[in-house]
Amino acid sequence: MKACRGEPVPYTPVWLMRQAGRYMKEYRDIRAKVSMIELCKNPDLATEVTVTARNRIGADAAIIFSDLPLILEPMGFKLTYDEGPQIHNPVRTLEDIDRVRAPDTNSEMSFMSESLRQTRSELPPDIPLLGFVGAPFTLASYMIEGGGSRNYEYTKKLMFNEPEAWHRLMEKVSAPIADYMNQQLASGAQAVQIFDSWAGCMTPSLYHRYVFPHVKGIIEKVSGGIVINFATGNPALLPLLDAAGGDVIGIDYRIDLDAARKILDGKPVQGNLDPCALLAERGPLLNEARKVLELAGDEPGHIFNLGHGILKETPVDNVIALVDFVHEESNT
Ligand code: CP3
Repeated sequence: MKACRGEPVPYTPVWLMRQAGRYMKEYRDIRAKVSMIELCKNPDLATEVTVTARNRIGADAAIIFSDLPLILEPMGFKLTYDEGPQIHNPVRTLEDIDRVRAPDTNSEMSFMSESLRQTRSELPPDIPLLGFVGAPFTLASYMIEGGGSRNYEYTKKLMFNEPEAWHRLMEKVSAPIADYMNQQLASGAQAVQIFDSWAGCMTPSLYHRYVFPHVKGIIEKVSGGIVINFATGNPALLPLLDAAGGDVIGIDYRIDLDAARKILDGKPVQGNLDPCALLAERGPLLNEARKVLELAGDEPGHIFNLGHGILKETPVDNVIALVDFVHEESNT
């Protein structure tokens, strides 16, 4: 939490995106018994996988187990998991958009509040708990494409052809995102991270026109904790992420951290080891980690993380070695 506020710390804190996930046997054993959606909605099991992963690797923070598209269910979307999330009734027209429900996240996503409360009570008191949400662009692209996408054809077609419909959809998704962030901060999370995983498919000018005002509006409505603003895919968006707000900017693995810090001019940063480094041998892995610490520099305000979610092929021993290394190497 000190690093998030840009205050000096005795060593660089570290946690990893997707630290509870398929690379870990304890997680796979639970997933063998329940579906992804059942796991997300079961506070006992969500707490168990969150706390087990954090304790196993010795991370300095825990991120609550859930997933980005769950909030789409109370908005009227039919969600299942195949390879990734699938939406079976995507929106493509203004009429479709007008049918999107305004959810009451407090009651309709109450499992999240319960998971956070329970996880908070089972974590060591000095370990911050993070909540998270999908950013409006990333959630809108799931609503429109119906799943993952390579080119975002339908999403961009709607933006270009019907900007009013696009902004209406973005408003419809942004209001519950802000509510959901505040709900999470009121239920035991000390910080919330916004994931804009697919924003990198836009130029800064496109992002500025179609996405920026919505992200800025969301962050303005959030209070009661730290906000981490993270987007992947295009470091040219960093000045706009900074301007949209957040206490910390998440940095993906496509830019060196010294360059990112220069752009962000003193704002705390989180990142940005390439997740593939964890697939390398121990020596090269730790060399890459050392490089990240060096490029982060001596200014306070760095939280070590990956530049994207951990890959399922990652050996757990490498993750434990990484966390230990970051603690030892940065200890001053
Ligand atoms: O960081 C965490 O551990 C918190 C939980 C979390 C998950 N996904 C769990 C998950 C978070 C914050 C996410 C973020 C997420 N989800 C993103 C943004 C980050 C990123 O990686 O870009 C996106 C785009 C999603 C949507 C999503 N969920 C996809 C595309 C997939 C399939 C591909 C993949 O990497 O697995 C998922 C599935 C998912 N989300 C799993 C987990 C643990 C695997 C589900 C399983 O057990 O089968």
